[in-house]
Amino acid sequence: MKLVVLISGRGSNLKAILDARLPVEIAAVISNRPDAGGLDLARAQGIPALALDHKQYTQREDFDNALIEVIDRYQPELVVLAGYLRILSDSFVMHYAGRLMNIHPSLLPSFPGLDTHARALAAGVKIHGCTVHFVTPTLDHGPIVLQAAVAVRADDTPVTLAARVLAAEHCIYPKAIAWFAERRLLVQSDGRVNLRDDSGSEQTLFISGSPS
Ligand code: GRF
Repeated sequence: MKLVVLISGRGSNLKAILDARLPVEIAAVISNRPDAGGLDLARAQGIPALALDHKQYTQREDFDNALIEVIDRYQPELVVLAGYLRILSDSFVMHYAGRLMNIHPSLLPSFPGLDTHARALAAGVKIHGCTVHFVTPTLDHGPIVLQAAVAVRADDTPVTLAARVLAAEHCIYPKAIAWFAERRLLVQSDGRVNLRDDSGSEQTLFISGSPS
């Protein structure tokens, strides 16, 4: 199965996906920022790595249309957002409906948006974590594929909590992508995602505790 990965920065999730040696072809890594460290990670593995600088476009739609054109040259079955820090236009999301995945650093539907770790600490939650979900036009809202829970410690800062959540991200994102590639993910009409197991029955996805 062919994948295209979109990034904006250091690319630690991209690295986790590459290190997992999944039976998929990462056809290209594309960044909206030319200086994204993740581009070098991809190049080091011989994967086409391109930048499409959003600053060259005044309209979001124009940029997203140009991005679609570049992505579709590779004909991916799945587009993976791995720290891609741009709001997507509805038309972009609809173009890749059902084959656009994201990882978000909170247990959705809690804490969509930015600064999730600081907001989780401010709210006093005892469990935080991360979520892999399919992308829909509503920000950080699509069908949930897989979550990892991370216990919050009394002395956590946003930095220490982020580090443990990031480690959990690196565990669950490759797993979710593998399930997609194995065609085991079943998105129900009500938006819940079930996993087809080896015997053909279905089970709801749930991971309890930090997988670190
Ligand atoms: C991760 O925390 C991810 O959940 C969020 O952006 C961060 C990207 O980190 N969407 P990296 O570039 O994968 O290291």
